[in-house]
Amino acid sequence: MPRTKVLAASDLVQDQATRVVVDDVPIALVLDSNGEIHAIGDTCSHGQISLSEGFVEGDTLECWAHGSAFSLATGVPQNLPAYEPVPVYVVEIEDGDVYIDPSVTKEIEQ
Ligand code: FES
Repeated sequence: MPRTKVLAASDLVQDQATRVVVDDVPIALVLDSNGEIHAIGDTCSHGQISLSEGFVEGDTLECWAHGSAFSLATGVPQNLPAYEPVPVYVVEIEDGDVYIDPSVTKEIEQ
């Protein structure tokens, strides 16, 4: 599947999540405080909650419903009740635009 241009990097607000849907896959994009852009699955692995409605806390995105904080780097929840990771997608930046191919997830070493 080809990658899709999702938005301009300048549309992202630091330490806030932005929800995008690429090929029916909901994804939360986060510009962290180091200026790095992360893309993780937007649906909490504990319930049908959009993670991008939650809070960026350091290097995690926290679900507002029950407080599980998912690592932006690995998708792994750092605390219960969620225990399954969400996918992490490869982000490419080109000419200031953010591209994602939702069929390509990062290989994470657990
Ligand atoms: S729905 Fe996200 S932690 Fe429960």
